[in-house]
Amino acid sequence: MNVASDKKREARASQYMHWAKARSRARFNLATSGLANLKLHELQVSLNDLEITGEGGYGYQPLIRSLADRYRVNADCVVTAAGTSFANHLAMAALIEPGDEILLESPAYEPLLALAHYLGAEVKRFQRSFDDGFRISPPEVERNLSSRTRLIVMTNFHNPSGVLTDDDTLMEVGKLASKRNVRVLVDEVYLQMLFAEPPRTAFHLGSQFIITNSLTKAFGLSGLRCGWIFAEPELARHMWLLNDLFAATPVHAGERLSVVALKRLTGIAERAQIRLDRNRELLNQFLDTRADLEAIRPPFGSIMFPRVKQGTAENLCDLLREKYETSVVPGSFFEMPAHFRVGLGGDSETLAQGLERLGSALDELKLKCLQNRS
Ligand SMILES: Cc1ncc(COP(=O)(O)O)c(C=O)c1O
Repeated sequence: MNVASDKKREARASQYMHWAKARSRARFNLATSGLANLKLHELQVSLNDLEITGEGGYGYQPLIRSLADRYRVNADCVVTAAGTSFANHLAMAALIEPGDEILLESPAYEPLLALAHYLGAEVKRFQRSFDDGFRISPPEVERNLSSRTRLIVMTNFHNPSGVLTDDDTLMEVGKLASKRNVRVLVDEVYLQMLFAEPPRTAFHLGSQFIITNSLTKAFGLSGLRCGWIFAEPELARHMWLLNDLFAATPVHAGERLSVVALKRLTGIAERAQIRLDRNRELLNQFLDTRADLEAIRPPFGSIMFPRVKQGTAENLCDLLREKYETSVVPGSFFEMPAHFRVGLGGDSETLAQGLERLGSALDELKLKCLQNRS
């Protein structure tokens, strides 16, 4: 294999996903971004709920109807897919051609960037800056739009910062987009953690919006691979046809389990909210004690993205893993090496112990730094 083809292969992979699967595990794992995995028995499924093969056709109608009802959208706007990951792939593959320009937020969830490159897009960026609370600034989006832009891509809540983008800001971006015939893809996989509100989606803000989502993060149901896209009916039809080339037919038992899960979401959400509230308090208390860290602290969601005040977080992440059996996500995966991402969805005891270790690692690095100076 020559060097050129090695490079090509690298471009056809997600470095973050590889790290998450092969390197992120630790005794005190603060690297995961969603709620801890639910067990099968907690879903109270009976064997009668399951079947191996469905009737075929485009989508399992009970699942499509459940999603359409939950989010108050028409059934012909719903496309199901294996997780938000595949929903993003299918949506982007339907929306862009090789050579098209897309405008992606920065920092970004790396698989979105890798996917856009894989599909041959020319990727431009708009900044969400720490100093501005990682907010989306519509003028910053507008400055980076060109006559060649086909698609704007963002996450809500934002991964890695966990910051919510409100509907007014989304509508401003939507207006900029529709004036230029540009579409807006919003990955809403974290948005469902606004548990106190009725299920919400930017799909209702205008026909230029395409939404991706799944039951993965807010409900600890990653293994179901219950993902979906909301798009205007013609576009949705195009995605179903494109999917015939990709996945053709989904795992029917998964679709059946997903219908059961959607009926149980209220109870699952109540427990998730209690856990996240408790864990957020733990992390906030920890951050209050650390003058060497600064962070935007969203009042909901399952992730935060603190910054070390001096240097990069690379040494910290390495030391944490090697000596303290603790993992967080290095900010370099989000193009911000001074930051690291902490997840709040695990059990509180693990988080408390992980944070204690994070404190020890920070203290150790500070001491080393002082010793080197003297
Ligand atoms: C923004 C974003 N989209 C999609 C995913 C993947 O979701 P799923 O497990 O539903 O494929 C993640 C997982 O970290 C994510 O952070």
